[in-house]
Amino acid sequence: MTGSFPTIRPRRLRGSGPLRRLVAQTRLHPADLVLPVFVREGIDAPVPVSAMPGVVQHTIESLVAEAHRCVEVGVGGIMLFGVPLAKDPQGSGADDPGGILNVATRAVVDAVGDRLVVMTDLCLDEFTSHGHCGVLDAAGRVDNDATLERYAAMGLAQARAGAHVLGLSGMMDGQVGHVRAALDAEGFTEVVILAYTAKYTSGLYGPFREAVASSLVGDRATYQQDPPNAGEALRELAQDLAEGADIVMVKPAGPHLDIVAAVAAESPVPVAAYQISGEYSQIIAAADRGWIDRDRVMLESLIGIRRAGAQIILTYFALDAAALL
Ligand code: PBG
Repeated sequence: MTGSFPTIRPRRLRGSGPLRRLVAQTRLHPADLVLPVFVREGIDAPVPVSAMPGVVQHTIESLVAEAHRCVEVGVGGIMLFGVPLAKDPQGSGADDPGGILNVATRAVVDAVGDRLVVMTDLCLDEFTSHGHCGVLDAAGRVDNDATLERYAAMGLAQARAGAHVLGLSGMMDGQVGHVRAALDAEGFTEVVILAYTAKYTSGLYGPFREAVASSLVGDRATYQQDPPNAGEALRELAQDLAEGADIVMVKPAGPHLDIVAAVAAESPVPVAAYQISGEYSQIIAAADRGWIDRDRVMLESLIGIRRAGAQIILTYFALDAAALL
């Protein structure tokens, strides 16, 4: 009789909360989380983003208050996105020292820069009238090499504003090396480059495009990676490392956890993953209908990203998750 029962019982280690906690192989810590935030020019009170309940476009004042909250709960960093009043084909607001993102960066660095890692999005899409991540050539296509010059200027403006980490999210070829060279030539050798190494084109960016008042018509499929492909993520990883990336990132996180794992297996530098706007909003929307438990699914989604191999997670849940951890 006894022989027909299992002697190996994995359930044994699941038998109580303390046991499960003891044997947990993955943990979330507030210091691993980075909160993406939006700061909008020309408003005098925060504006809610309707497609991202709980997220707002900040004034500089409310942004600084949010940065203080990050410090209080021990969040690791903050990633700033700017929403300018005026846009043009070159995205001039991006490298203007008086541009909203640069002014906001200075304000946040002055307020909390010794207690929080301050990151800036380095991409033109919020600043261009056509909404693309780069400048366009005569035929209306995104011009890779002309865009690199704009990124170098933008990176220098962000470094001068005091940014600790530049998040290169535009997916132009050679962007890491070009911005690194520009920074080093001006003495900004300590400014960290977070490379969006494997950034896939995605329908889940939808809510973000409202958050930054994007003017994009069409998509970014000629520069962001194609979701069916895994191999090119490793090719981009090798290239970003060779060009001097300090941290590499995979984005969106949830649909591409295999890529997070593949990059983490090969990367000698820290790996980040970005739980993007649509991943956030899907959870909020289902929870608002009473279909799922918000906090539980939030933590489950984050632990999955962590377990796949991301050491750092960019998430709009950063403050909420940190409060629960
Ligand atoms: C490009 C950029 C985007 C996001 C971060 N950086 C938008 C895009 O690629 O269309 C999206 C983040 C999100 O959806 O939360 N500057």
